[in-house]
Amino acid sequence: MRYRMLIVATAQDVLAEALQRAGVAQTGRAAAFQVVGRGFESRLPLHGPADSMTSSLEIRRLTPDDLQLALSLGNLFDGPAQLEPTRRFLESPIHHLFVAQVDGRAVGFVSGVELTHPDKGTEMFLYELAVDEKFRRRGIGRRLTDALATLARERGCYDMWVGTEADNVAALATYRSSGAAREDDFVMLTWDF
Ligand SMILES: CC(C)(COP(=O)(O)OP(=O)(O)OC[C@H]1O[C@@H](n2cnc3c(N)ncnc32)[C@H](O)[C@@H]1OP(=O)(O)O)[C@@H](O)C(=O)NCCC(=O)NCCS
Repeated sequence: MRYRMLIVATAQDVLAEALQRAGVAQTGRAAAFQVVGRGFESRLPLHGPADSMTSSLEIRRLTPDDLQLALSLGNLFDGPAQLEPTRRFLESPIHHLFVAQVDGRAVGFVSGVELTHPDKGTEMFLYELAVDEKFRRRGIGRRLTDALATLARERGCYDMWVGTEADNVAALATYRSSGAAREDDFVMLTWDF
């Protein structure tokens, strides 16, 4: 799932009309937004007994030195990782990538971006989250989400949020499980360049 430009609207009708006049299309891809509120405590290590698949689970935060590992995550991304965007992502101090590894094999990731506004400070946008199908329902998605939330708190973010499809049951359950609350009164719009 990709979010190229986001507008978060609370007065939807007014905004939709104005944007329609400006030639911006509303997309139905993300009807639900989640917010992890202030004061949410880390719950690492998380629920679920360790089993043979997850007993060696490690959540790693990648650094610029992990370029090759990041480039190898293409099977977990929507498509193959590209060299320059991957390098740029890893070298940026406000872009974050955590990888879940089992026996050294990458089985999931979460990415986040810090967003700052003059009157608000900084919040964390959970950009993407995915777990290899064979490793789902073992607590890995939640551990990745919590790892990013923990980092967000450490870096002084005042909240963390994510957009997902309203019918993405697994994502909604994972974010709720990690302490997020649903915000229904939002809409996403995209400029396709
Ligand atoms: C969303 C996703 C990352 C969840 O990963 P996961 O490792 O299976 O999630 P977890 O095992 O940590 O589950 C976390 C919680 O969600 C629940 N959950 C996970 N998948 C679920 C499903 N399909 N239906 C119902 N509940 C589900 C779990 O029971 C758990 O709840 P609990 O903490 O109350 O016990 C995974 O399903 C995935 O990769 N989906 C495809 C990519 C995607 O849609 N990403 C989100 C984009 S915004």
